[in-house]
Amino acid sequence: MIKLTGITKTFDNGYNALKNIDLICNKGEITALIGPSGCGKTTTMKLMNRLLNPSTGNIFIDGKDISSLDPVELRRSIGYVIQHIGLFPHMTISKNIGVVPKLLKWEKDRIENRVNDLLDLVGLDPETYRERYPSELSGGQQQRIGVIRALAAEPEIILMDEPFSALDPISREQLQDELVRLQKEIKKTIIFVTHDMDEAIKIADKIVLMKDGEIVQQGTPEEILRRPVNDFVENFIGQKRLKQIHDIPTVSEVMVKGTITVSPNCSISKAMKIMESKYLYLLIVVNEDNKLQGYISIFDVVRSFESEHQHVRDIIHPFRHIVDSETLLPKALKAMNDFQYSYLPVVKDDGTLDGLITLESIIEYLGDIYPPVRSGVVV
Ligand SMILES: Nc1ncnc2c1ncn2[C@@H]1O[C@H](COP(=O)(O)OP(=O)(O)OP(=O)(O)O)[C@@H](O)[C@H]1O
Ligand SMILES: [Mg+2]
Repeated sequence: MIKLTGITKTFDNGYNALKNIDLICNKGEITALIGPSGCGKTTTMKLMNRLLNPSTGNIFIDGKDISSLDPVELRRSIGYVIQHIGLFPHMTISKNIGVVPKLLKWEKDRIENRVNDLLDLVGLDPETYRERYPSELSGGQQQRIGVIRALAAEPEIILMDEPFSALDPISREQLQDELVRLQKEIKKTIIFVTHDMDEAIKIADKIVLMKDGEIVQQGTPEEILRRPVNDFVENFIGQKRLKQIHDIPTVSEVMVKGTITVSPNCSISKAMKIMESKYLYLLIVVNEDNKLQGYISIFDVVRSFESEHQHVRDIIHPFRHIVDSETLLPKALKAMNDFQYSYLPVVKDDGTLDGLITLESIIEYLGDIYPPVRSGVVV
C-alpha cells in the first residue's frame, strides 16, 4: 500500500503544484489519477519514487516512510512507464526491457528468459522483435514495450504515466484490455495516470480526480459515477455517461423544433408583425446560416419607437445561457431558474439553432411521464 499524508509540493520557482494531498493506493489495485493538464498528476507520481521530494508531508510504502530509503534503490524496486514511452532509441528491444534487471545484476540467462516471457505476454513474438530497435516498431508496439519494461524486474509497484495516450483508439482499447487481463494475473499495485475517463472507468479499482494540485474526489468508479461531488466531476464524467447511469432525461427529449426566428437584418416593424401573428413576446434571432445571434423582446420593440433603431440587429440581446441537446434536463431547468428565462435555445456544436426548450414543453413532458391521477381521488 502507498500512503500519502499532508503532501504539498512547491517548486523552486515558487509554484504550488500540490496542495495537501492525502491518498491511499491499495495493494494489488489499480489507482487511476485523472484530471486536466497541469493539475499535478505526474508530480504526484514522481514523489512516489522520489524523482521529486515533497515540500511537506510523508509518503509511506507498506508502512515505511520512503524519505528514509535510498532513492536509487527505491526507483529500481518500482516500475515506471513515463509519459511519452521513453524507450532508449540506441538499445534493442531486449536491452530496453532488460535495463532494470541488469542494474539489479540478474544473470544473463534469467534476463533473456524474462524478456522472452514478457514479449509473449503482450503478443509480440520474441524471435521477431528482440533485436529490433524502437524506431522499427509501431507506436502501439512501443507502448507495449514501455509497459513490459516496467514489469521486467517484477516490482510490486508500477507507476504508469499516460501509457496509452499517444495511441489510436483501437490500439488503445486493445492495450487497456491487455492490462486488465494482465493485472488479474500479476495483481500489482499500479498507479495509472490518464486524461481519459473511459479509460479510468475501464481499468481502475479506484479513481482519484485532481484539479489545481488538489484531490476533488476519490472513490470506486461506481461511487464517482453515482455521486459526483460537484460540477467539475460531473463535467469530467460527461453528460452522456451520467444519463446512462441515472436515466435522467436530456434536453433532446423535451425540446421543440421548428422555432420561429428572424434575421438581424429584418426591420423591426416586420418583426413586430411576426410577434403579433404568433402571439410571441420574444423572438429568436439567427443569421443566414441559422447561427444563433440572440433575441429581441417586445419591450425592445416598444422602446425603439423613441429611437432611431430600425433593424432587429440594433436591439438584439445575447443569451446569457444556452444548452445543447445532450444537456441533462435538471441542469437546463436550473439555468432557466437562475437566469429567469422562460425558455432556452438549444444550440449545436457549430453554433446553429437546434430548437428550444420552454417551460411549456417541460410541463408537457413531465405530465406525460408522471403516473395518471386515479379518477375520484382528490389530491
Ligand atoms: N520542475 C518544475 N518547476 C516548476 N513548475 C513545475 C515543474 N514541474 C511541473 N511544474 C508545474 O506543476 C504543475 C503540475 O505539473 P504536472 O506535470 O504534475 O502536471 P500533470 O497533471 O501531469 O499534467 P499533464 O496532464 O499535462 O501531464 C504544472 O503547472 C507544471 O507547469
Ligand atoms: Mg503529466
